[in-house]
Parts: sequence; structure tokens; C-alpha cells
Amino acid sequence: MIDFNRAPYVGKEVEYMQQAIAGAKLCGDGPFTKKCSAFMKEHFHSKNVLLTTSCTHALEMAAFLCDLQPGDEVIMPAYTFVSTADAFVLQGAKIVFVDVHPETMNIDETKIEAAITEHTKVIVPVHYAGVACEMDTIMDIARRHNLKVVEDAAQGVNAWYKGRALGTIGDFGCYSFHETKNYTMGEGGALLFQDDSYLERAEILREKGTNRSKFFRGQIDKYTWVNYGSSYLPSDLNAAYLYAQLEKMDEINEKRRAIFDYYHEHLAPLEKKGLIERPYLPEGTEHNGHMYYIKVKDLETRTKLIRWMKEEKGVLCVFHYIPLHTAPAGLKFGRFSGEDVYTTKESERLMRLPMYYSLSMEDVKYITDCLLEYQDY
Ligand SMILES: Cc1ncc(COP(=O)(O)O)c(C=O)c1O
Repeated sequence: MIDFNRAPYVGKEVEYMQQAIAGAKLCGDGPFTKKCSAFMKEHFHSKNVLLTTSCTHALEMAAFLCDLQPGDEVIMPAYTFVSTADAFVLQGAKIVFVDVHPETMNIDETKIEAAITEHTKVIVPVHYAGVACEMDTIMDIARRHNLKVVEDAAQGVNAWYKGRALGTIGDFGCYSFHETKNYTMGEGGALLFQDDSYLERAEILREKGTNRSKFFRGQIDKYTWVNYGSSYLPSDLNAAYLYAQLEKMDEINEKRRAIFDYYHEHLAPLEKKGLIERPYLPEGTEHNGHMYYIKVKDLETRTKLIRWMKEEKGVLCVFHYIPLHTAPAGLKFGRFSGEDVYTTKESERLMRLPMYYSLSMEDVKYITDCLLEYQDY
């Protein structure tokens, strides 16, 4: 059976975790956490990078730092993972869902302004599959309406928009290092921001409401409870695993891009025949090979194809997401602005193919050949 995903392992993870154990420093903000943050600051040109326990928690921190009041509205695509919405719902915000572009499954920036009301405070673009949203337009809308932008770049680590790393363009950027992502620490994430004035509050929020970060830097001689907060910092043991992966960032990226390119090139004939559609990569975006998906005719075709790939060919393909505005919590906490022209229809046609660092090119060829052989599109 060919798995859909396997956590990447590049070689030095165990050595670095042993170093962390030998140093008897396993809690948060130890040497490996610092190395990971410094690496991301340098490579993604981000002034501030705080490693977190997940992207969900990075989004929660961003939602806190946006100073939302109950009843404030937050605009995001309906086609996304639940955490994008949950983080803001926890602040009492109302979610306003906007339709996606069918070509990229990213928020349709031309429909954002119609969704803005006097209660709108934040726009959350989600860079689906590591392909950038139309950030120039989104930032322009945000500036004109005095809104904050929180980039959900869970899938967009080491992906770029007009030369800028995803996650560094909006007020806040949120990364995921979950095991399904390009670079991992099992569970983990990061919060990025460029405005230094958020740093003190962000550190307090992440360290249980205390000024412990200042204490560790020797800026104060005892630490205390100064504001509300939670525990959003990961163990240095996890950071040690991640650091090994970040060091091999280019190698991981090249492998994933090679898989993407193989699928893309060899599935082109199916698109030419009108049987499937392949992902579209807008000009100015540089993706990170996070995902490869195809779109088939409809839900029934997808269900049959996923079953055939699994039962006849031993290949696990998956789909996601159930559009959030149709989920029970989406109905309770949100509303759809305008018409759902593409979100539901396109989400039912989308099928993800296996994509991970250790997937062999022989397996990629086999998966592609299976799709070329299938007769029932
Ligand atoms: C778009 C998006 N946002 C947020 C998340 C949440 O990430 P994490 O699992 O690190 O909390 C994911 C995870 O799959 C995601 O795909």
C-alpha cells in the first residue's frame, strides 16, 4: 500500500534530540528553539518568529493580538481547515466566509470588499497548497478599511509571493509543523510578525501570562504574572527534530517539487482530454510542493476513483475540506457573504495524491500510471 503521507525524516533528528537530552534542557525556548527561530528569521526575512505548539495556537495568538471584541467580524475563505475559524471564534468573533477562486482554491479577493461591514476587523487569507493568495490586493483592501491581515500559511512554509515569504506579508503569519507538513516537529507551528511593538505582548501570551521571556534574557530579576496568557511554547525536544529538517529545507523542497512536476507533466494528457483539471500556479507565486491534487468531474467520480485507487491499486488518495459554512459550527458561528458559486462544487471534485519527502519516484510513476489507466472519469 502506498501511504498518503509519511512524516519526513532527513537523518540528524535523533542526534539533535540526543543533544537536547544531554543538555538536560527540554522545556521551551531552549537552544534548538532559538536555532529554529533564528533560521526562519534569516531565511524568510521575518523580524519576529516565535515557535509555537501548533499553527492552531499561532492563529490563536494572532487572534488575541488583534484585540477582537465579541461581535467583531473576521473574513476568511469557507474552504479551509477548522483552526482558521476556531482561533477567532474563541475570541467571540463572527466568521464571514467568502467564496474561493476555482483555479487555486484561495479566497477570491474580488469578493472581499462586499463582505466588509462596520464590524469587520480582520481578513485571513489561507495560502492553500502553498500557493500564495493575491496579497497585493488583499493588503490594499486591508489598508483602505483599516483591517488587520492574518496569513494562515500553515501550508505555505518556504513558499513565496513576488519574492516575499508567505507569512511575512500580513500583520501576522502562522506556520504549521504538523507531521503532514513539509517540515515537521510532530506537532508545532510558528507565529511571525514584523511590527516589534507586538513582541512583548506575544511573549507574555505564549508564556502563561508571565514576563518569563524577559527574565531569561536577564532584563528583569524575577518574573511574575502580568497579563492573561496560555502555554504556547513547544518542548526543545520537538524543536531539535524540526531544526534537522530546516537545515535540509532546500533538499526537502526540491524533492517535493520534483514529485509535483512529475505529476503535473504526466497528467497533462488527462487534462487535454477534458477528464481532469490540474492545479494552476498564478504568476508571481513560487509554491513549495506542499500538495498535488487533481479535480475530477464530480463527487461520485471522486468517490469511485478513491475507492479504485485504494482497493485495486493499493494507493491512498484523500480529499478535504467539508466547507466550513456548511458544518454545524460554521452555521452557528458564521455566515457566507454572497453566493457559494465554487466552494462546495469545487471541494467535492478535489482529490489529493500521495506527496511526501520519502515517496520514491518509482511510486510517483506508478500512481500516475494508475490514473492514466483509469477508464471511468
Ligand atoms: C490551512 C490550515 N490552517 C491551520 C492548520 C492547523 O495546523 P496545526 O495542525 O499545526 O494546528 C492546518 C493544518 O492542517 C491547515 O491546513
